[in-house]
Amino acid sequence: MKTGKDAAPAIIVIFGGTGDLTKRKLIPAFYNLFIEGWLPDRLRIVGLGRSELNDGDYRDRLLQGLTEFSRSGTPNPDVWTTFSQSISYFQSDINDPASYGELAAILDGFEAEWSTKANRLFYLSVAPQFIEAVTTNIHHAKLAANPSTDRIIVEKPFGHNKATAIALNKLLTSIFQEEQIYRIDHYLGKETVQNILALRFANALFEPLWNRNYIDYVQITVAEQVGVEERGGYYEGSGALRDMIQNHLLQILCMIAMEPPVSFSAEEIRNRKVDVLRAVRRLKPDEVHKNAVRGQYGSGWLQGKQVKGYREEPGVDPNSNTETFAALKLYLDNWRWQDVPFYLRTGKRMQEKASSITIQFRPVPHSTFPDSQSDSLIANRLTISIQPQMDIRLRFITKRPGLEMNLQPSEMIFDYDKCSTQSPEAYETLLLDAMRGDATLFMRSDQVEEAWDVITPVLETWESRTSLDFPNYAAGSWGPENSEALIARQGHVWAINTHSFKH
Ligand code: BG6
Repeated sequence: MKTGKDAAPAIIVIFGGTGDLTKRKLIPAFYNLFIEGWLPDRLRIVGLGRSELNDGDYRDRLLQGLTEFSRSGTPNPDVWTTFSQSISYFQSDINDPASYGELAAILDGFEAEWSTKANRLFYLSVAPQFIEAVTTNIHHAKLAANPSTDRIIVEKPFGHNKATAIALNKLLTSIFQEEQIYRIDHYLGKETVQNILALRFANALFEPLWNRNYIDYVQITVAEQVGVEERGGYYEGSGALRDMIQNHLLQILCMIAMEPPVSFSAEEIRNRKVDVLRAVRRLKPDEVHKNAVRGQYGSGWLQGKQVKGYREEPGVDPNSNTETFAALKLYLDNWRWQDVPFYLRTGKRMQEKASSITIQFRPVPHSTFPDSQSDSLIANRLTISIQPQMDIRLRFITKRPGLEMNLQPSEMIFDYDKCSTQSPEAYETLLLDAMRGDATLFMRSDQVEEAWDVITPVLETWESRTSLDFPNYAAGSWGPENSEALIARQGHVWAINTHSFKH
C-alpha cells in the first residue's frame, strides 16, 4: 500500500488513548512520521479513554508527552498545530456496545467528508482482560469489516501462558482474518534488530561461519537500569520471563538462529523464525534448575542514588515471588546449532542499560605463535549492540606494531551514530509497516504459541516453587551470582559485565 501525503486516507483509533504508551510512544511515532512526510494528508487519529476530556485537553496532554519523549524534541508550534488538528478524543466505555455505534458514526463521518473509504487501523493498547470486549464490539459494530484495508494491532502481553495465548488467537481469528492481525513486539522494529537480517543475509562473509563448526556460544542480554516504576501491579502478574524473554529475547534469538529465507516476504521470514522456536529443546521440569536462573532486586545504589528493592515498589507484594531477572541456557536441536549454548539474560535495575548480542567464535585450532603470546590469542567475537550503544563490532587479533611478533586484539566497528544522527524509533517503523500492510516484523499466531511453549517448563517450575533467596541481587549489580554459575559450567562468562577483551 502506498504511503505519504497523497496516499489513501487513514483513520487510526487508539483504545487506551489516555495511557502511557500513547503519550510516550504512539503519538511521538505518528508525529515523526508526519513531519517526515510518511502520513497521508487525509488523516484522523481518535484516542479513546474513560476520562472526561475535550479535544483541546487531550491534545495538550499529548503535546506534553511529545515534548518529553519524542526523538525530535520539542515540536515546532505551527507543525504541531497542523498535526494536532487531525487528533480527536472520544470518551467511551470500552465494555459498552453503544460506544462502538457512536464510534462507527464518527468514522463514517470522516469517510463521508473525504467521499471515500479510508484504511482503518485499530490499536489495542489495553489490559488483556479488555481485548475480548473490544474486538467483539469492533466486530458487531462492523468497524473493521474490510480485511484488505482494516487492521488491528494488539500490544503485548499476548496471553498469560500458552493456553491463554491459544484462546486469544482463536478469538481474534474468529473475528478477523490473520492478515488483519498485527501482534506487535517493538524489539522487532528497532533498527539494530532489523539490521541483523541485513548483516546475515546481505553479506556472503558470515554465512559459512554461522553454525556449530565455528560458533562456540551465543549470548543475548537485555539489561535495564529502570525498576518496575509505576507498573508494579502489572509486573507482579508477569515477571521477567513473561515480560521480556517470551517475546523480545526469543524474537532476537530467532533473528540470529534462523535459516536464510528464500525471499523477503512476511510469510517466508516468519516461517523461518518459527522453525527456530520449534527447534528449541524443551526443558524437563527436573532440568529447569540447571538451565534457568531467576532473581529479584533488593535495594541498592544506581548512579549515586539509593533505590528501593522490588518488594518495596508500589503495587508489589512485600513477599513477592516475582522474578525481575531471568537467565536461560537453551539449545537448538537442528543441524546448524546442535550443542551450541544460547544464553539469554534480562533484568531490571542492573548496573547499566545495555542490550547486546554476542556471537563468540571458536578459538584457532592450533597456535603458531610463541607461548608468551598465547594469552593474547583470544577468539574472534562479533558483538551487535542494540541499545543504547548501537554498533556492530568484530574482534580479531592483529600484530602490535613493532619489531617483535606481539599480538593484540583489535576491532572493526560499524557505528550507527556515525551514519545517521536520527534513526527512527521502533514504533515509527512498526506503525508505518502496519499502515502499509507489511506484517514481516509482526508475530504470527504460531510464533507466539511456540514462544510460550519454550518457556512453559520454566514458568511452571518457578510458579510452583517459591524462591527462598529473594531478593538475591542488589539494584545496581549484574544480577544474582547464580547467573554467572549458569554459564561458568561451560567455562563461559557474560560478555557485557566483564568489559574486557578477554574470554
Ligand atoms: C516492554 C516491557 O515490553 O519493554 C518493559 O514490558 C520493558 O518492562 C520494555 O521495560 C523495554 O523496552 P525498551 O525499548 O526500553 O528496551
